[in-house]
Order: sequence, then structure tokens, then C-alpha cells
Amino acid sequence: MTNVLITGGAGYIGSHIAVELLEAGYEVVVVDNLYNSSKIALDRVEEITGKKVKFYDGDILDTNLMKKILREEKIDSVIHCAALKAVGESVRKPLEYYSNNLTGTLSLLEAMAAEDVKNIIFSSSATVYGSPDHMPISEDFPKGECTNPYGWSKSMMEQIMVDLYKADPKWNIILLRYFNPIGAHKSGKIGEDPKGIPNNLVPYITQVAVGKLEYLSIYGDDYDTVDGTGVRDYIHVVDLAQGHVKAVEYLEKNPGLDIINLGTGRGYSVLEVLRAFEKAVGKEIPYKIVERRPGDIATTYAKADKAKEVLGWEAKLGIDDMCEDSWRWQKNNPNGFEE
Ligand code: NAD
Ligand code: UFG
Repeated sequence: MTNVLITGGAGYIGSHIAVELLEAGYEVVVVDNLYNSSKIALDRVEEITGKKVKFYDGDILDTNLMKKILREEKIDSVIHCAALKAVGESVRKPLEYYSNNLTGTLSLLEAMAAEDVKNIIFSSSATVYGSPDHMPISEDFPKGECTNPYGWSKSMMEQIMVDLYKADPKWNIILLRYFNPIGAHKSGKIGEDPKGIPNNLVPYITQVAVGKLEYLSIYGDDYDTVDGTGVRDYIHVVDLAQGHVKAVEYLEKNPGLDIINLGTGRGYSVLEVLRAFEKAVGKEIPYKIVERRPGDIATTYAKADKAKEVLGWEAKLGIDDMCEDSWRWQKNNPNGFEE
């Protein structure tokens, strides 16, 4: 039996990982300071799976707490999701982002080293590639220039783990570079619950669809893409979560450091996503074309072959599932986890 600690496990991605791990027979422990999430998400995880999650309401910056959890819960592997992640906010509050994300990661790694728990899977992002000039993006592309402190914090956290591995090859590390996770669990019980006005495309569309926001602003229709709007590799959050189950299995058998993209290998434009969403909802979603958003790139999508070769994982769910599931979650929970 393997015991897995998920940092940030009450959040959007972490809660979906918890479900998939529990269903695969793992024991799951979560540490989260609930800065951007709700304990209710974990109650729902228990409802979905009929299994218990051990929850610590705490901060990864608290190294002593992290040591205690690792020791007392006999943790074998850590999935490190805890981070601040709002791109725009990171530009306004760089010190908060660097402090939480970098110092938090250092604190966690220090605790892991002290307790001799050396298996870690890290929630990284395709943002570390910067703006490559050709697609699809494979893992051997060089890391690039990020356009904001959030992106740089991911890039730096990766570097910290690469250096740690060089210094001590007993560490087993997988850096998972996510493309654009969307969707929600089929039950409609857990999903993305952004605070305030959403920054990301799909949560914004769902709030327009539910009547909380008036229309979608599409950031530019003059990119060199199929219809002029930005193209991204959207991946269903349940597929993404299952990728982590495969990564835990792999990590515990294969020592070393691996960098793996989690994407579908296919890009969709903003208008294509909007159309798929309209189909899921059964009504038109109002939109306006506005200026490009600073820092955006035209197109990004993954080369997804390495995940298949190394982890035996590939995304199974398509854009219609992603939109239907996002909509079910939003419709059933118009105010997210607020009761
Ligand atoms: P989220 O905000 O829903 O989850 C992150 C969780 O971490 C939250 O529950 C938050 O309360 C917690 N947290 C933050 N700082 C903490 C701290 N110091 N101590 C304890 N808990 C803390 O975000 P998410 O979308 O689930 O993202 C999870 C991870 O995946 C993040 O590292 C994010 O950067 C990464 N990622 C997300 C996306 C995306 O589009 N959602 C894309 C690429 C990478
Ligand atoms: N978009 C709109 N209107 C909106 C929101 C987004 O037109 O209201 C467009 C964007 O211009 C882009 C696409 O929809 O073309 C996707 O935008 P998102 O904000 O949903 O996602 P990004 O690709 O910009 O960013 C995401 C994560 C980042 C991560 C990055 C790379 O939010 O955390 O992917 O992995 F760094």
C-alpha cells in the first residue's frame, strides 16, 4: 500500500488527483492552507469515492508540520500541487508569488530530505517553454522566457529539483508539464471554483453561460491561427489526474528524473471551444472580440508521445466531454463550493 501526500490537494487539480488515487487503491493525505480552495471539495472527494482523505489544514511553508506529516503518515510519494497560480496577480504581487511558490517548495523539499522521502511529482506548466517558434512542443525543447512571475516561479522550481537530483541521485522526480486543464469530474461534484472574476477561458465561459457574467471577451482574432483566435491544448482534468496515478506507479519503480508533458497533442481555438461549449449548454454564448491580452501567444500544443511511452498514459476525453463536464459542474454549483 502506497501513501501519497498531495500538497494543495483541496484545489482544482489536486482534488481530481485525490479521486483517481483513491479509486486506484492509494491512501491519500492532503495538506492545504485553503487559500484558494474549500474543505468542501475534500468532502465531495469522499462522497464520490466512498473513501477517506486525511486532511491537514496547514501551510507547506511550515517545515516542521511537513516533517510531521511525512513521518506520521508514512508518506511514500508526494504530489506537489500547492502554489499560487494567477498569472495577472503574479505581475502585481511578485514577492508573494516567489515567496509562496519558491520558499514553499524549498520548505517541502527540506522536510522530505530530512524524513528521507525522496519521491516527488511536481505540477509544472507548459508556460516554462516560453514562446517556441514551432509546434508541437516536445520535452527536449529548451526552456524559454516566461512573461510573468508565476511562470518564472514554475521554471525556477523545476531548476531547484533538477539541481537537487544532480546533488543526490537518490531523489526520484517527475516534472509534469501541464498544458491547459479544463473540465470537471463526471459526477458534477468537484470542479474549478475561481475566486472573483475568472482569468481563464473555460471558467469565464461557464460563468457567462450561467448568467453571472454578461459576455466573453475574446482576446484578439488576428493571430495566425485557424480562425485568428488563440489555440491551446486543452486537457480534461480527469485525464490529467489519471496521468498522476500512472506517474506515481512509474516513480516508485523507476529511479531518476523525468520531464513529461501532459497534453492531448491537439489544439483548439477560442472560437472552437466556444462552439463546443454552446453545444454542451444548448444555447448561444454572447462574445465580443477585444484587444489581444499582453503576454499571450498565438498557439501552443504538446507533443504527447513521451507520456504514452514512459507512463503508458494518454488523454482519452475530447473537447465535448470537457465542455459538458465543466458545464455540469457549474450548473449544479453556480456559486462553486460556497453553500
Ligand atoms: P488551485 O489554486 O485550485 O490549487 C492549488 C492549491 O494550493 C489551493 O488549494 C491552495 O489553497 C493551495 N496552496 C497554495 N499555497 C499553499 C501553501 N503555501 N500551503 C498549502 N497550500 C497552499 O490550482 P490548480 O489549478 O489546482 O493548480 C494546481 C497546480 O497545478 C499548481 O501548482 C498550478 O500552478 C499547476 N498548474 C495549473 C494549471 C491550470 O491551468 N490550472 C496549469 C499548469 C500548472
Ligand atoms: N481567452 C480569451 N478570453 C478570456 C480568457 C482567455 O479569449 O476571457 C483566450 C486566451 O487569449 C488564450 C486562451 O483563451 O488564447 C486560453 O487562455 P487561458 O487564460 O485559459 O489559458 P493560458 O493558455 O493563457 O494560460 C494557461 C494557465 C497558465 C499557464 C499557461 C501555460 O492559466 O497558468 O496555460 O501552461 F501558465
